[in-house]
Amino acid sequence: MEEAAQESLHQKILRVVAERGSASSAVLAKDFGCDHQTVVGAIKSLQSLKDVVDVEKRQAEVWLLTSEGKDVAQNGSHEATVYGAVNPDEGTSQAELEEILSKTIAELGMRQAIAKKWLEVRKTAAGEKRVFRKVTEIKDDVKTLLQKIEEQKWQDIEKGQLKDLQRRKLLSKGVSNTFLVSKGSAFTTQIEKPEAELTAEMIASGSWKGKTFKPYNFSAKGLYPKSGHLHPLMKVRSEFRQIFLEMGFTEMPTNNFVESSFWNFDALFQPQQHPARDAHDTFFMKDPKYAAEIPDEYAEKVKLVHEGDCYGSTGYQYDWKFEEAKKNILRTHTTAVSARMLYKLSQQETFSPVKYFSVDRVFRNEALDATHLAEFHQIEGFIADYDLTLANLIGILYEFFKKLGMTNLKFKPTYNPYTEPSMEVFSYHDEMKKWIEVGNSGVFRPEMLLPMGLPENVSVIAWGLSLERPTMIKYGISNIRDLFGHKVDLQMVHDNPLCRLDK
Ligand code: PHE
Repeated sequence: MEEAAQESLHQKILRVVAERGSASSAVLAKDFGCDHQTVVGAIKSLQSLKDVVDVEKRQAEVWLLTSEGKDVAQNGSHEATVYGAVNPDEGTSQAELEEILSKTIAELGMRQAIAKKWLEVRKTAAGEKRVFRKVTEIKDDVKTLLQKIEEQKWQDIEKGQLKDLQRRKLLSKGVSNTFLVSKGSAFTTQIEKPEAELTAEMIASGSWKGKTFKPYNFSAKGLYPKSGHLHPLMKVRSEFRQIFLEMGFTEMPTNNFVESSFWNFDALFQPQQHPARDAHDTFFMKDPKYAAEIPDEYAEKVKLVHEGDCYGSTGYQYDWKFEEAKKNILRTHTTAVSARMLYKLSQQETFSPVKYFSVDRVFRNEALDATHLAEFHQIEGFIADYDLTLANLIGILYEFFKKLGMTNLKFKPTYNPYTEPSMEVFSYHDEMKKWIEVGNSGVFRPEMLLPMGLPENVSVIAWGLSLERPTMIKYGISNIRDLFGHKVDLQMVHDNPLCRLDK
């Protein structure tokens, strides 16, 4: 639409220039009845067609009506207003005029009207001073002048009159930039919009020969190329991965969201009647309901340790059911991944020390709120070596969290079915000015390691933390639903900066 209108404006300007030899943008705007700026735009684009027109910039004096001037041009001058308000027969008192018209208009208008001899102040027979009309008809010249000026016809008006009106604050003087367009050396009225692109069709048909092409603008800024953007969680994940790799850890395969209860709970010495194994806390699979493969021989040993009096443990003294262990669930922690890996290591002919880590998704049947989701990510690491102690765990936690910029740590005893001792890790947050929980940790129990077949003097220290928490702190996100899930604004992913943990 706009393009077509612009086209015809170009044509119209060229026609006028062809007829008159030259034309000013101000005159053109008035003739075409359109905005001056639009005409200037069209002239500028004609100027870009080489030598079709010559354009000369001119500065002209312009007179503009002030807002009071506009009011007068529409409603008449103060003097005419006062004249109109005076009773033609009995006259009117100044006090009355002031009341009808306001004090300023009455005073100003009276002064002008008296000077113009339209009105006079006389004493009545009763001795009262009143304003009377002196003529029966008036011509509101100020109004007429202002209307002329509004139509930009100030050329016809005497300088003195303009100055008078300026003094009365009805006019103000300004300058306007106008452009004088005249024929250029390659003047034509037959302009074609220059092509922006040479197409295959133009080459095939030969139509390019008759066309003009827009010159390349080599200083134009390019468009940003479209590209993918990593979610903040993925950015923070790669930072954590980097830390583990620097510390000599190997990543575990985590590609199974569906896990058997066996690896998620039983292998971790978590009793079958434990509340965490309830449908309120864990998502159970309907189909397939049961896991296909569980190592029988090992499961037998797990049964023994749960039931008790085996591997030096009293166990839980209950009837362990294979059926329960086979139930498929969505894994509730990545410790299930660690359990699988430790079992695999125990199958080696000779054990050798290892350091492993994982960062992946887990699922819990939670009530959702600003800090809890049904799926989130866990970061987990373990070291398996001969004779590791709690001191080794504390040492490695200091080293690990130091790489995240957390040097001020506190440990608090806690309980996990699979670790003994167990410690929650707290770090002092300088900005939030409080201790915040940053992880959970412990030494895996013999009840977990011995049934797997690991040598008796091998111990495993392990810790885990959430990926969401440091990400929310890092990116200043207070509601977890703004970070992850169906309510996430993709623009957030697009806009978020690189992640660099303060190491
Ligand atoms: N699995 C624990 C959790 O879900 C974390 C943890 C990992 C604790 C390893 C101790 C050892 O919070």
